[in-house]
Amino acid sequence: MPTRLKIAIQKSGRLYEDSLKLLKDCGIDLKNGINKLKTEAENFPMEVFFLRDDDIPQYVEDAVADIGIVGENVILEKNKKVTVCEKLGFGKCRLSVAVGRNEPYDDCRFLHHKKIATTYPVLVEKFLKENKIEAEIHEISGSVEIAPGIGLADAIVDLVSSGSTLFMNGLKEVETILHSEAVLIRHPKLGQEQQEILEKLLFRLRSVRKAKHTKYILLNAPNERLKEITALLPGMKSPTVLPLAEAGWSSVHSVVNEDQFWEIIEKLKAAGAQGILVVPIEKMIL
Ligand code: PRP
Ligand code: ZN
Repeated sequence: MPTRLKIAIQKSGRLYEDSLKLLKDCGIDLKNGINKLKTEAENFPMEVFFLRDDDIPQYVEDAVADIGIVGENVILEKNKKVTVCEKLGFGKCRLSVAVGRNEPYDDCRFLHHKKIATTYPVLVEKFLKENKIEAEIHEISGSVEIAPGIGLADAIVDLVSSGSTLFMNGLKEVETILHSEAVLIRHPKLGQEQQEILEKLLFRLRSVRKAKHTKYILLNAPNERLKEITALLPGMKSPTVLPLAEAGWSSVHSVVNEDQFWEIIEKLKAAGAQGILVVPIEKMIL
C-alpha cells in the first residue's frame, strides 16, 4: 500500500468546517460515507482522522497521526512533544475568565479563594500563579459555561469566540488569559515519504493563504500617465502592460495586497486610471 500522510482534525466544534475547507482549498477531495472516524483523500496521499481536538496533540506525539489541526490553546494546555509548523489564520479565539453578569468584578483579586471551572487546568493554574491568587480549580470536560448557574463554580475559564455562549448563560468576560488560532502541528520525526507529502501539502497551503490576501487588478491607463500608474503597482515581478485598441491607452494588470488595497485604488484613480477591475486570486505560486 502506498504511504499516506495521516492528518487528525476536530470531529465537531469550532475548527471542523474550516479544517475541511482548508483541505478542499488545497485541492484535496475526501471520500465520504465510509465512517465518521476516518476517511481518505481521493486525489492526494492522505488519510483523515476525526478526533476530539483535546486528544489531537497526544495522537500526534504518539505518531498515530503524522500531523493535526488544533487550536494553539490546546497545544499550550497539553504540553506534548509536537512541532507547530504553520499558523492557519482561522479559529481565532481567546481563553478568558468569565463571571456572572451581576458580579462586582474589579480585578483578578476577585478570584481569591473562589472556585473556577475549566477544561484548561494547566493554563488556569499558570495564570493564578502569575497573579499570586489562590483559588480552587475544578476541572470539567465540557459545558463549562453552565457551572456558575448551577452553583458548581464562582467563575469559569473557557474559550470565547463570538461571546454568544457567555451571553446566553448570563456571564460576562472579565479577563483574557491568551489569544489563540488554529495551527498545523506535526510529529517531530516523520519518515522520509511522509515528510515529502507534508512538504507538498505545505506548499499548497501557503499558496492558498497567500492568494487570500492578494487581489488581481486590471485597469485602463492613458499612456502619458503609465509611468506614474505602474509605479503604484509593483506586481509579482512587474505589472503587465498591453496596448488597447484605442490609441493612446493601455491595459495594466497587476496584483495588490489586501491591506494596501484601498489606498492604492485611490491613488490610481487620482493618477487617471479608469475601468478598474478587481478579482480574487484562487492560488498564488511564488
Ligand atoms: C468553545 C467554547 C464555547 C464556545 C465559545 O467550544 O467551549 O462553548 O466555543 O464560542 P462563542 O464565544 O462563539 O459562543 P469548542 O467549539 O472549542 O468545542 P469544545 O469545547 O467541544 O472543544
Ligand atoms: Zn475542545
